[in-house]
Amino acid sequence: MQFDLVKIKKEAKKLIEKAGDAKALEDVRIKYLGRASGEVTKMMKMLPEVVLGERRKYGPLLNSLKRELEESLEKKLTVLKTLSAGSRVALDITMPGKKVSLGHLHPLTIVEKEIRNIFKAMNFSVVEGPEVESEYYNFDALNIPKNHPAREMWDTFWIRHQTSDIRHQKLLLRTHTSPVQIRYMEQHKPPFQIIVPGRVFRYEATDASHEINFYQVEGLMVGKDITLANFKFVIEEFFKRLFKKDIEVRLRPSYFPFVEPGLEVDVQCVRCGGKARLPDGQGCGLCKESGWLEVMGAGMVHPRVFEAAGYNPRDFRGFAFGLGLERIAMIKYNIPDIRLFYSGDLRFIKQF
Ligand code: PHE
Repeated sequence: MQFDLVKIKKEAKKLIEKAGDAKALEDVRIKYLGRASGEVTKMMKMLPEVVLGERRKYGPLLNSLKRELEESLEKKLTVLKTLSAGSRVALDITMPGKKVSLGHLHPLTIVEKEIRNIFKAMNFSVVEGPEVESEYYNFDALNIPKNHPAREMWDTFWIRHQTSDIRHQKLLLRTHTSPVQIRYMEQHKPPFQIIVPGRVFRYEATDASHEINFYQVEGLMVGKDITLANFKFVIEEFFKRLFKKDIEVRLRPSYFPFVEPGLEVDVQCVRCGGKARLPDGQGCGLCKESGWLEVMGAGMVHPRVFEAAGYNPRDFRGFAFGLGLERIAMIKYNIPDIRLFYSGDLRFIKQF
């Protein structure tokens, strides 16, 4: 008796290879391994009739052939299943992989980082303070006592049912980063220069340029003989580096209880270049045809503020400023509505 196992194996493998779907593959299985009349099965059934020596030889060979065919069928079935699942591409190992989308920085984070770096390069330190603040630091120590009409400049979120351990005063969500001026001066002696980036809150109706929570960067420089000229230099340098071009800065008189004199700082409009009109003759919408953009409040530190911090106001001079981070980012990136920053809309966020 002779079994041509090599030939059978070759044939079977070829048919498995050719099978185009699960049905065709099943036919191949039946042809060779089918229980009733599969070719391999039949040979195995014949084994008992074979003389002992041959039986010893073919037994293991048939067994391993059966196993090998089963494996090939199994493998091919997996391949066919993957294909019919419509993921032909999954098998093409030369195709580029799917791009993993990475997270990225929020535009406000980007601008804040830039501002930090510019000031750090000018030897300023970066410090922070609490968002839940006492009435004392947010107002009184900044020369805004109770019932002072200037308190109305800051619509305040008050915190009920809990008082501060600082003078047992009411707690609030800080309306500006200026309280950190006092906190820092209580702990440090001049000369120093700091910036304070941080989140602030105002109890206001929201619109395209107002949010109930936003970010400020406070600046404070104190020494024996700091003057407005120092302020002007620092701030011009800052805007030059931020907008990466020479940019005109204008100081206007203004009022904040914690500075004297108080100033409003404008920069030349970055869109129309201060011309109030665009090249096509249309009025510039960004600066409302004024040629200037208001970017921060500032001034020379008020003697009362030095006193509140425990300094003798005769010993020191200093300047302070506070800028709105969103405002700067809106100007820098041409963003029309402050509410976009907090919309969580990825179509917006992904542009930066
Ligand atoms: N704290 C002021 C505000 O929020 C800004 C400011 C800071 C003005 C420092 C002068 C000096 O409006």
